[in-house]
Amino acid sequence: MNEAVLKLENLSKTYTLGKRNVQALSNVNLQVNKGEFVAIMGPSGSGKTTLLNILGCLDKPTAGLVLLDGVDVTSLPEKELYKIRGSKIGFVFQTFNLLPYLNARENVELPMESLKVPKDERKRRAGELLAMVGLSGREEHRPQRLSAGEQQRVAIARALANNPALILADEPTGNLDAKNKYEIVKLLANLNINQGTTIIMVTHDSNVASQAERLLFLNDGKITREKQGLHLVKKKLMCPYCGGKIQAEDTMCPSCRKKLKYQGEEDGD
Ligand SMILES: Nc1ncnc2c1ncn2[C@@H]1O[C@H](COP(=O)(O)OP(=O)(O)OP(=O)(O)O)[C@@H](O)[C@H]1O
Ligand SMILES: [Mg+2]
Repeated sequence: MNEAVLKLENLSKTYTLGKRNVQALSNVNLQVNKGEFVAIMGPSGSGKTTLLNILGCLDKPTAGLVLLDGVDVTSLPEKELYKIRGSKIGFVFQTFNLLPYLNARENVELPMESLKVPKDERKRRAGELLAMVGLSGREEHRPQRLSAGEQQRVAIARALANNPALILADEPTGNLDAKNKYEIVKLLANLNINQGTTIIMVTHDSNVASQAERLLFLNDGKITREKQGLHLVKKKLMCPYCGGKIQAEDTMCPSCRKKLKYQGEEDGD
């Protein structure tokens, strides 16, 4: 019950550029429990990426503690952090960051190679994960032969490869059109609901953020507000075509005017 995956205590980060200091984060306190789906919003430059990079052990804070699965990662050497990144954290980026010369399956296998998972097992698990994100039959495709939405699905499968305690996603829908945006956030929400995956996602898009169960607002490096998200996928209250807000009784989306079919519709859930 309420098991903390992540705990931040008085976290601050100052970047020094020449003689100038930039206070990117100041005194952030936060606990994220196992199975939560948290969205972080905030204006450009408010410290969202800085926060995610520190949570993902890609960067170190100037002050404060980061407890990941109960371990203070702020004082660990890079060799240990490398192991933690590989085993406990799955990253999803705005630009997908797939390796272009590897096919979808090989991209998903990559994090497992770092943990020395045997080849057969890697191949089996990669196939399973690609099926889970709806990409059966695309295993041999290289990124350039996949659509943007499909590439992000591969990146999500890759993030799940080592069964991480935490998925960190920095604007995962930022480069996608409305339909793919919805598909990707629905995939993340379903992972959270069905597999209990803990997710922290940065987004500028309030429709995307509304899928989370908890919304944090960052301003000038501080968490200034928190509110409950709507978890709309769970409640099925998001238009599958444009991502717009809908009411349970709507038969037509008020934004894009497309017909909404819930009854007897096969939607892959
Ligand atoms: N490596 C760095 N060196 C110096 N300053 C930095 C560095 N990275 C970020 N900053 C500064 O820290 C502040 C927070 O940046 P950050 O990238 O975390 O913002 P963000 O909320 O992710 O913005 P965006 O929405 O544009 O992605 C900004 O003022 C930025 O200029
Ligand atoms: Mg950013």
